[in-house]
Amino acid sequence: MKRFIEQADAGICRRLDHVGIAVADLEAAARHYTEVLGFTELERERLPHQGVEAVLLDGGNCRVELLGALGENSPIAAFLAKNREGLQHLAFETADLDAALAHLAEHGIEPIRPPSVGAGGLRVCFLHPKHTRGVLLELTEYPKMNGS
Ligand code: CO
Repeated sequence: MKRFIEQADAGICRRLDHVGIAVADLEAAARHYTEVLGFTELERERLPHQGVEAVLLDGGNCRVELLGALGENSPIAAFLAKNREGLQHLAFETADLDAALAHLAEHGIEPIRPPSVGAGGLRVCFLHPKHTRGVLLELTEYPKMNGS
């Protein structure tokens, strides 16, 4: 049985990039994830246009993005009010975000908003859980390296 497909054949979601977790107290959560759960903090970023403050953590071969609410009308505040803390989204790396969105549009799927620049300067786009069997899904596109 084929366990993995070649990168060149891979689809829209070719690699799990990070797991997004909504938290009520970003500082306390970041301390817990680093001091108790063994993650290393990579970066923190305030994204006012997304209503989010994020701390990106590395566990070795996996990454977690802790998300705190920033400002009014923050989707994280709305999430916490509805669900309390917990899994908020899964982020997958996609090779070509525009091609992925064109493909999805052929299936009647539009992103929540057009692509924007998210944490780490990556182009990102979110798909509503109604299109993914219940999970908010982030597509991330890394800057293209020369020659690829
Ligand atoms: Co994310």
